[in-house]
Amino acid sequence: MARPVLRTDLCDILGIEYPICMAGMGGLRGRYTPPELVAAVSEAGGLGVVGGAGIPPEDLRKAIQRIKELTDKPFGVDLLLPANVGKIDRSSSDEPPRDALRRTYPQHVAFVETLIGEFGLDEHRTQRPIRDDGQGVVRKQVDVIMEENVPVFAAGLGDPAWVVPIAREAGAKVMGLVGNVRNAMRQVKADVDVVVAQGTEAGGHTGKIATMPLVPQIRDAVAPLPVVAAGGIANGTGIAAALTLGAAGVWMGTAFLTAAESGLYGKQIDSILGARSDEFVISRSYTGKTARQYKNPIVEAWENSGLEPLPMPLQGMLMADFSAAAERAGRHDLVFTPSGQAAGLLSESKPAAQIMKELVVEAVSVLEAMPGRVTTSAG
Ligand SMILES: Cc1cc2nc3c(=O)[nH]c(=O)nc-3n(C[C@H](O)[C@H](O)[C@H](O)COP(=O)(O)O)c2cc1C
Repeated sequence: MARPVLRTDLCDILGIEYPICMAGMGGLRGRYTPPELVAAVSEAGGLGVVGGAGIPPEDLRKAIQRIKELTDKPFGVDLLLPANVGKIDRSSSDEPPRDALRRTYPQHVAFVETLIGEFGLDEHRTQRPIRDDGQGVVRKQVDVIMEENVPVFAAGLGDPAWVVPIAREAGAKVMGLVGNVRNAMRQVKADVDVVVAQGTEAGGHTGKIATMPLVPQIRDAVAPLPVVAAGGIANGTGIAAALTLGAAGVWMGTAFLTAAESGLYGKQIDSILGARSDEFVISRSYTGKTARQYKNPIVEAWENSGLEPLPMPLQGMLMADFSAAAERAGRHDLVFTPSGQAAGLLSESKPAAQIMKELVVEAVSVLEAMPGRVTTSAG
C-alpha cells in the first residue's frame, strides 16, 4: 500500500518525509532520547532529535555515530544555551563547587540533606560529580555536532546567534525554541532557519503562554520564517490543529517519552501513562528554571519548604546528590520526570515507528474529514 502523504515546506527545509519532529529531550544522561529512539523516528519519516544537554562531548559523539549507523536519514541534536544563568560564588578558584554551595546556601543544602533522610535514602548517599564549566562544555558539544555533520541543530534555551554561522559553515539547519514573541524576534535576529513556538502545556522548561495563542502570534511575527508548534501535541488531531494554526510542522516531546525505545525508568513511564493532564505542574525544584513535570513528592516538598529554589544551574547542582541517591535506591518515583499535559492523551507504550504511523494516519484523516464536517463559503 502507498504511504500516506502529509507534506509542508518544513519537509523540504529539513529533508524529511513528514513534518513531525521528536523534541530533543535532555536529562538522565541521555536516557530520554537514546540513539535507537532518535533513529527510529527519522527512519519513520520524521526528524529524530537528541537531547544533548548534560551529555559530555565525547559521549555525545558516540551517540551521534551510533545514530548514523542506524539510519542515513536526517536527524538533529538539541542543546540548552543558557542565558542569564546563576554562578557559584567561590571563595577561591580551587574551592570545590559542592563546598561553595554549602557555604553560600547553607539552608538549601540542609533542606536537601533532610530530604535524603526523610525519603530513606541515607544508605544510598553518593556524590555525583558536579561541574561548573557550563559554557565551556556547550562550546565543545557544538564542535562535536558540527564535526560529525549533524544535519539539524536545535537551541533549547538562550540565544543561538553565535552558533548560526558555525552551523551554516557545516551545512546544518538551525531551529530555535521560544515561548514568547520577544524571544522569537531574538531568533530572527540570530538568523535561524526555523522557529519552534513552545506553549506552556509542554513538558520540560516552558513559558507561560499556551500553544493556541502563541503559534499564530509567532507565525505573524517571524514570517516568512517557518514556525513549528510545540506543547500539548500528542496525536494526529493535535498535528492537524497545529497546521491549521499556521505551523509548518510539530515538535513533540511527551508523546515520544514513553516510546518502547526510550530509556525512562519503568516507574516514570507508569506515572506518565497513568496520570491526568493536571498532574503535570510547573516547578523550579530540580533545575532552577520553570519546568513542567510529573508532580511527585519532591515537587511538593519544595513547594512547602518556604525556600525559593536557586537559579539554574545551581539548583541542579544542589539536587545532584539527592537525584543520584534516589536512582541508586531504585526510587525512580522521586527522580525528575519532565513531561507535559499531553500525557493525559497517552495510555500505552509503543514503538516509535508505530507512534509515527498512527500520528500521520490520524492527521491525514482529520484534515481530509474537515470539508465534510465544516461548511464554508468566503461569502
Ligand atoms: C523529558 C523532557 C526533556 C526535555 N529537555 C529539553 C531539552 O533538553 N532541550 C529543549 O530544547 N527542550 C527540552 N524539552 C522540551 C521539548 O523540546 C519540547 O518543547 C516539549 O516536549 C514539547 O511539548 P510536549 O512535551 O507537550 O510535546 C524537554 C521535554 C521533556 C518532556
